[in-house]
Amino acid sequence: MPSDATKTVTNMLTSPPHLPLIAPSILAADYTRLGEECSSALNAGGDLLHFDVMDGHLVPNLALGTDMLASLKASMPEAFFDVHLMIERPDLFAEPFAKAGAGHLTFHIEAMNGEMAGDQGRELIDTIHKLGMTAGVAIDGPTAVDKADSLLEHADLVLIMAIRAGFSGQAFDPAALDKIRAVRERVGDTTRIEVDGGVGPANASDLLEAGADVLAAASAVFRVSPSGRASVITQMRTPTRGS
Ligand code: DX5
Ligand code: ZN
Repeated sequence: MPSDATKTVTNMLTSPPHLPLIAPSILAADYTRLGEECSSALNAGGDLLHFDVMDGHLVPNLALGTDMLASLKASMPEAFFDVHLMIERPDLFAEPFAKAGAGHLTFHIEAMNGEMAGDQGRELIDTIHKLGMTAGVAIDGPTAVDKADSLLEHADLVLIMAIRAGFSGQAFDPAALDKIRAVRERVGDTTRIEVDGGVGPANASDLLEAGADVLAAASAVFRVSPSGRASVITQMRTPTRGS
């Protein structure tokens, strides 16, 4: 049955100033200087900030929350926050994250309930839209793209994990390239495909060629000194083979 969910929200993801978009993931930032780290990543050319939230249940780690997002948003109101919810009950947190300043919310298909995944996911996308945010569905490393089939046409963004979600610093799994191609065949050009996990200058050209248009990267951006970040982001945006 067709859903009422509509893609009526306009923001950095639905009306991008250019493509690809580079999304520094603050999971690998120095938390003692988080505000400076966020500014540094944006000043270095990052388009938006990827904000990872983990509940210790859907993934075996804990990370970030609404209070931290609200503080960052208050200190940098122009920044666009792409919130990646790796939590079992994303439905409970759509409104708190909207209030905290999220521009976009991605939830995991693995957090949806088996046969109800399609209905539950569409309802959640609708809720996210009504709260004024764009909505994304994430597909974790071990999960087949087919699992999210019924949501692909409703989401503004599909997030392909090139790792098993939970930690930064893991090695990129090239199996993500076929998943990106498969999703790009099923969605139009106006749906963003973001890739997350082990992303950096070395694989950016393959990812963009496969059809990704938002590259999230934590270690590649934050594990270099602030003065080196602009170069990393430029190499990701306009990669040359072998860089
Ligand atoms: C992991 C997070 C990623 C992570 C990426 O579950 O969703 O956003 O920060 O880290 P890197 O870029 O180091 O693989
Ligand atoms: Zn993430």
